[in-house]
Amino acid sequence: MSGGECQTSNKNDYDDENEEEPPPPALDEADIALLKSYGQGPYTVRIKNLEKEIEVSKDRVKEFIGIKESDTGLSLPSQWDLVSDKQMMQEEQPLQVARCTKIIDAGQDDAKYVINVRQIAKFVVGLGEKVSPTDIEEGMRVGVDRTKYSIQIPLPPKIDPTVSLMTVEDKPDVTYEDVGGAKDALEKLREVVELPLLHPERFVTLGIDPPKGVLLYGPPGTGKTLSARAVANRTDACFIRVIGSELVQKYVGEGARMVREIFTMARSKKACIIFFDEVDAIGGSRGGGEDGGSDNEVQRTMLQIVTELDGFDPRGNIKVLMATNRPDTLDPALLRPGRLDRKVEFGLPDLEGRAHILTIHSKSMNVDRGIRYELIARLCPNTTGAELRSVCTEAGMFAIRARKKSISEQDFLEAVNKVIKGYSKFSSTPKYMVYN
Ligand SMILES: Nc1ncnc2c1ncn2[C@@H]1O[C@H](COP(=O)(O)OP(=O)(O)O)[C@@H](O)[C@H]1O
Ligand SMILES: [Mg+2]
Repeated sequence: MSGGECQTSNKNDYDDENEEEPPPPALDEADIALLKSYGQGPYTVRIKNLEKEIEVSKDRVKEFIGIKESDTGLSLPSQWDLVSDKQMMQEEQPLQVARCTKIIDAGQDDAKYVINVRQIAKFVVGLGEKVSPTDIEEGMRVGVDRTKYSIQIPLPPKIDPTVSLMTVEDKPDVTYEDVGGAKDALEKLREVVELPLLHPERFVTLGIDPPKGVLLYGPPGTGKTLSARAVANRTDACFIRVIGSELVQKYVGEGARMVREIFTMARSKKACIIFFDEVDAIGGSRGGGEDGGSDNEVQRTMLQIVTELDGFDPRGNIKVLMATNRPDTLDPALLRPGRLDRKVEFGLPDLEGRAHILTIHSKSMNVDRGIRYELIARLCPNTTGAELRSVCTEAGMFAIRARKKSISEQDFLEAVNKVIKGYSKFSSTPKYMVYN
């Protein structure tokens, strides 16, 4: 209809001199069809169809040549210009890696840069056209060209590939909702980790330093690793996960170097959380005497962590989490306030917590309605989250064995018998209680 209105107004403009024309008749179907074809040549439709057909044939040709989905970023082989590509590559020489050790007259127009090319010499050079003076800092790795050694490109710090592999790129799909019980512990953990990252100004106005690190401790299977993963999921910060035993290396000095590089990488990020899991592998107390000098290397790694913890600015962007189930074996130097300020215990869940954990783990399972999780939780005193999860899995196994479509309360009760009573000699909690 809008087309029609447009037409009437046009007519009115045109017929201004001889007034009192009768209003133009309303458009009918045929008129609209005519309007739609306005601006189309006699062959438009046919051309469109032909174009479509050409596309289809092109796809068929590609299929026959063997170009797959992933190659389609390339143009067709017939359009390649290999000769000029080769020429271009010859003109652009590969750069050489050097280290900028000193800047002479920094901040002025005629600043000069001292670079150190490995195994060749030191040079005093200028900047290439594509770099601005603000890009280059002292101690940075740079790319220089091979003829005049002028700085062409700033390079990121060199990080050991094994260290950069430790960053958690894809966030785990665990959220705080997946952690049952442990409310206080989670609350404390979030306070330390999230608050300084989200609201640093609150600490500045009060003039206090936010805690640098948190130690998570508690019996095995109470959700320490799980909570850390939930933290990783929630924050936008870069998350580096280090397993204690990964740092125990074969060669002297390697472990300490890895720690240094982990922290170097962390410092290069906007915000970063480093999580040392099973930290007792490296954090054992020093000078026991009886095990001799065999694990000196382990101690050196731990000392490096201690120094790094002292080194960075607490209001900065790095938070350190550590998890262990043997807090008694850790070196007191690691635990003193100022390094790991907060100790968060992940204890055994209480009745409410246990029922919650059971509901969490049976949520994804096919269970009968109206199961009394409270009752089941009451039947499992002194159990950890991992054991409760095992109860849920075993209940599922009983249902499978009976070829049932869904899991009944009876299955849960049998599973409790099996897991809690039957496996009691494997339970980790009594031992934990003895050690700590
Ligand atoms: N509080 C909890 N809520 C829900 N699941 C839990 C809880 N604690 C443990 N689990 C289950 O037990 C598994 C092992 O827990 P984990 O965090 O790895 O133990 P640890 O404390 O030894 O690191 C988890 O993957 C999770 O399925
Ligand atoms: Mg763990």
